[in-house]
Amino acid sequence: MLTKPVQTAINRQINSELMASYSYLAMSAWCDQQNFTGAARWLRVQSQEEYGHAMRLFDFMLAKDAAPVLASLGDPKGAFKSLLDVFKTAYGQEQGVTRQINALYELAFKEKAYDTAVQTQWFVNEQVEEERSMREIVAKLEMVGEDAPSILEIDRELGSRAPAAGGGEGE
Ligand SMILES: [Fe+2]
Ligand SMILES: [Fe+2]
Repeated sequence: MLTKPVQTAINRQINSELMASYSYLAMSAWCDQQNFTGAARWLRVQSQEEYGHAMRLFDFMLAKDAAPVLASLGDPKGAFKSLLDVFKTAYGQEQGVTRQINALYELAFKEKAYDTAVQTQWFVNEQVEEERSMREIVAKLEMVGEDAPSILEIDRELGSRAPAAGGGEGE
């Protein structure tokens, strides 16, 4: 049995993982339109990963015989000033998710929901990687500034990201 507060918190987390997926998809579309096809690909893979995060929690709830409640998603931000703006937004978003994951982890212990704590631990680790990759991209883009050839080089590098495992589930 998952307690009511735990269920509410997991449902909220499912919503924000799906919102993140939606948001990265919007960023991907913007990048593609600006001919940053490498970043567009990177962000599409990221969107699939976030979908996979939502599904992890969705499946966990079902395994615990609790009903996932899917709430509506807001409009994702779809307009950006630059590629740097895209990744700064992404970095801020991930920092927000980290705070939310930490709160979920804390709640799981408070509610003595050890299974939920173990599930959430995977996300605690994942957020370390997520923040690191966003921070690295932001730093590189800041380093090169307005230099078009360097920006295109970063874009090319981003384009080499492999597709999410299992088409977006489980990672
Ligand atoms: Fe996520
Ligand atoms: Fe993320």
